[in-house]
Amino acid sequence: MTVATQTPIKSVDEIFNDLKNKLGNFNPDFELEIKAKLAHEILQLKRDRNAVILGHNYMEPALFHSVPDIVGDSLALSRAAAETEADVIVFCGVEFMAETAKILNPTKTVLIPSQKAGCSLAESITAEDVRNLRKKYPGVPIVGYINTYADVKAELDVCCTSGNAVRVVESFGTDKVIFVPDEYLARNVAAETGKHIIFPTLNPADVGKQDPELDYELVGWKGKCEVHDKFTVEDIEMVRSEYPDVVILAHPECKPEVVAASDFSGSTSQMINYVETVEAPKYLLLTECAMGDNIAAENPHRDMLRLCSVRCPYMNQIQLQDTRDALLYNQYQVEIDEEIRLKALRSVQRMLEI
Ligand code: 13P
Ligand code: SF4
Repeated sequence: MTVATQTPIKSVDEIFNDLKNKLGNFNPDFELEIKAKLAHEILQLKRDRNAVILGHNYMEPALFHSVPDIVGDSLALSRAAAETEADVIVFCGVEFMAETAKILNPTKTVLIPSQKAGCSLAESITAEDVRNLRKKYPGVPIVGYINTYADVKAELDVCCTSGNAVRVVESFGTDKVIFVPDEYLARNVAAETGKHIIFPTLNPADVGKQDPELDYELVGWKGKCEVHDKFTVEDIEMVRSEYPDVVILAHPECKPEVVAASDFSGSTSQMINYVETVEAPKYLLLTECAMGDNIAAENPHRDMLRLCSVRCPYMNQIQLQDTRDALLYNQYQVEIDEEIRLKALRSVQRMLEI
């Protein structure tokens, strides 16, 4: 997690020079000039409204390097949202992240700059699906990835992120755990914890019936991140044949065979930390590509292979213009039914305690 204090406000020229130093190799001056003006407006509005801007590691480089007070992975941003004393939280990330901020800090105005910032994983499971799993496997704890909506979080026993999934699963000390909704993350956790995994079918006729076959340790769900699903073992083999000394880092939302063929797997911030602290001749990141640009800009002394063209279409909805408009027009406010929020809070807080 990086904290940047931004008072007094930087001038447009100062912001432009900062952006040019970091991104001048990738972005033309005219684009950085436009973005520096927008960033300056945002910083003024942020001060006037006593707002804090949280930016996920996947934010596009000019936004990432200009306006957030705090940048980080889902876990770090959840912690920051819980602790902030600002009046307004602008969440430059996707909807489930902004919801998590509201769950943790309900008296604040939480704004998400676009209403199109969804997530294929969060869409893959409903609260009713979780209730049905609980009926089918009574007494088995349910761990849910933070990439879920508030009504789903309300049905979980605990949340986890990619940075603490193994720790959260192991915290129960039980031999059976349900882990939803990311199939690949579940398979990666199963591989790391030595658990056998099954994927149940919840036919309407079976709902409410208990599974007579209790030969399982981890019960998964078939949700997928449409971005990380794109990386393949063939990509890795191709890169290694051309650059044998490359170190490959994969997000745990990638397929298990991709993670197994990589050298390191961790949350977005754990990958950033790896590049910053572990010396290697070359690095390749198998994750959303704006993050590769952001790391390359922060670490010009590192050789990053830029073979990546995969963008998250949801994260990519959040641009500087939207962030400016969020503060200007107080849009789009995140609201959560209080009963659901209180139930969801339990699962998020339990994660933060672990
Ligand atoms: P992190 O928690 O690793 O930042 O991941 C969030 C995400 O949505 C990855 O696709
Ligand atoms: Fe969701 Fe995947 Fe985008 Fe992350 S990268 S927000 S998991 S769709």
